[in-house]
Amino acid sequence: MTQRGHIILVGTEKGGVGKSTLAVNTAAYLKQKGFQVVIVDTDTQPTTNTFIEQRAAAGVEPHIPCYIIQGEKKIARDLLGLAEQFQFVVVDAGGRDSVELRETMLVCDTMIAPTEVGLFETWALKKTASLVNDVNIIRGEGNAINVHAVLNCAPTNPFLRNRIDRAIEFITHNFPQLNLAETIIHNRVAYSDAALFSMGIVEVPAEVKDAKAVKELVAFLEEIGL
Ligand SMILES: Nc1ncnc2c1ncn2[C@@H]1O[C@H](COP(=O)(O)OP(=O)(O)O)[C@@H](O)[C@H]1O
Ligand SMILES: [Mg+2]
Repeated sequence: MTQRGHIILVGTEKGGVGKSTLAVNTAAYLKQKGFQVVIVDTDTQPTTNTFIEQRAAAGVEPHIPCYIIQGEKKIARDLLGLAEQFQFVVVDAGGRDSVELRETMLVCDTMIAPTEVGLFETWALKKTASLVNDVNIIRGEGNAINVHAVLNCAPTNPFLRNRIDRAIEFITHNFPQLNLAETIIHNRVAYSDAALFSMGIVEVPAEVKDAKAVKELVAFLEEIGL
């Protein structure tokens, strides 16, 4: 049996929760570790692809290839094909319940489902949880999707810690199948600063690197086994 690469889906059907940000930063982290990485953008507004185009135009090394893949009945096959060529395939699956999201959920090895701490955002995970249940019926016993919800853009203000605690309590109680990560990713300007360099937060020059931001991103990725 050939050992194929690992397919990582960053997806929920909610927009603006940090999917593209985490997809790009996960890819940059894995690339920095020396792995062969490809990004796949299935979003109809392909933010990640634009990021990679800008990165290539700016001459940032190492280059991370990025493909836009959209359309019915093709995604799973294409992703498995890429996983034959790359050690990691990182998929940014856009912000709606799409055939792209569902197909990727069928074949992925890891799914990251970012959410913000607000009430509406955490409620929106209900749809993701129900998709996970559906997909698991098809994936079958012993092959359940390895999914991790993660709190993203959490407030750094200690006075707002109760909002984070409330979100943790809510998600673990209502959506245990989403395996909420212990690591919390906070709201850090490091992400937009790094984007200005067309880089992930682990890649930026030492003088502008945000050690706290890097530490929590790495802690999260290690926590989920990457
Ligand atoms: N942890 C974070 N800290 C600060 N800003 C963030 C963080 N995660 C995402 N953002 C910002 O939030 C906005 C939405 O993120 P994005 O990754 O585009 O979301 P999505 O892909 O889910 O629509 C972007 O402006 C991004 O820079
Ligand atoms: Mg996006």
